[in-house]
Amino acid sequence: MTILDGKATSEKIKLEITEEVNKMKANNEKVPHLAAIIVGNDGASLTYVNSKVKSCERVGFESTMVRMPSTTSETELLKKIKELNENSDIDGFIVQLPLPKQIDTQKVLMAVDPDKDVDGFHPTNFGRMALDMTTFIPATPFGILELLERYEVETSGKHTVVIGRSHIVGRPMSILMGRKGFPGNSTVTLTHSRTKNITQITSQADIIITALGVPGFLKAEMVKDDAVVIDVGITRVPDETKKRGYYLTGDVDFENVSKKASFITPVPGGVGPMTIAMLLKNTLLARERHRG
Ligand code: GUN
Repeated sequence: MTILDGKATSEKIKLEITEEVNKMKANNEKVPHLAAIIVGNDGASLTYVNSKVKSCERVGFESTMVRMPSTTSETELLKKIKELNENSDIDGFIVQLPLPKQIDTQKVLMAVDPDKDVDGFHPTNFGRMALDMTTFIPATPFGILELLERYEVETSGKHTVVIGRSHIVGRPMSILMGRKGFPGNSTVTLTHSRTKNITQITSQADIIITALGVPGFLKAEMVKDDAVVIDVGITRVPDETKKRGYYLTGDVDFENVSKKASFITPVPGGVGPMTIAMLLKNTLLARERHRG
């Protein structure tokens, strides 16, 4: 069994990006600039955005964090997005999700300039992804593809089962794994909360990608021998004995599933750090595309 080490791989990617930034600096070129809008005070979202901003500093990018109160109206947020769209110094930006309930998420994602949409959430970019055109691939699916590629995990002709149909992970992942090329060329089944007999489906899978947010959902008896298991779930479980007051756990019963799997991602240290590395990669791509 091989652990797909997202932490080590993401560090390698960040070093590669740093080298690109150093070349830009040596040529007196503008370095990539990522902005992140966060609305409200959700602890997990703040942690994610802080680590995105910190990672920008590490690779030599410029970064801007825009904090807006939880009472922000949709109009105010759309105005801020327009500002970032028009600010030529900013190469890419993200609006951290979820948004407070007074704001229509779809309207917000539609307002982001597709050329600056480094999350790849705009319908134009999502459509371009489905059509194999140049785009920004959403960071988490992009990170999973990158892990599969760097560890040379065979995907062609394999049966990939995706669990969860979120717009951020499950849905794009199901498209990407079925595309032509590597990693791809899989036969894909997309399962979700209304799927019947899910064990019957997962136990036929060569590759399982879980993105549910249900701790320990995927048990050993649901997985065949030598399956590849990718765990996208990250749930905070309250625990007073931990320094932060919680610990992180995935969708996979790691202890038992890892005994059967050929490759498996840990939580933490698997898909999570890859997401941030690929957001940086998309921001670098955005800079390169703006430069022409
Ligand atoms: N919330 C959870 N994951 C993500 C992500 O990748 N991007 C944004 N903007 N919000 C998220």
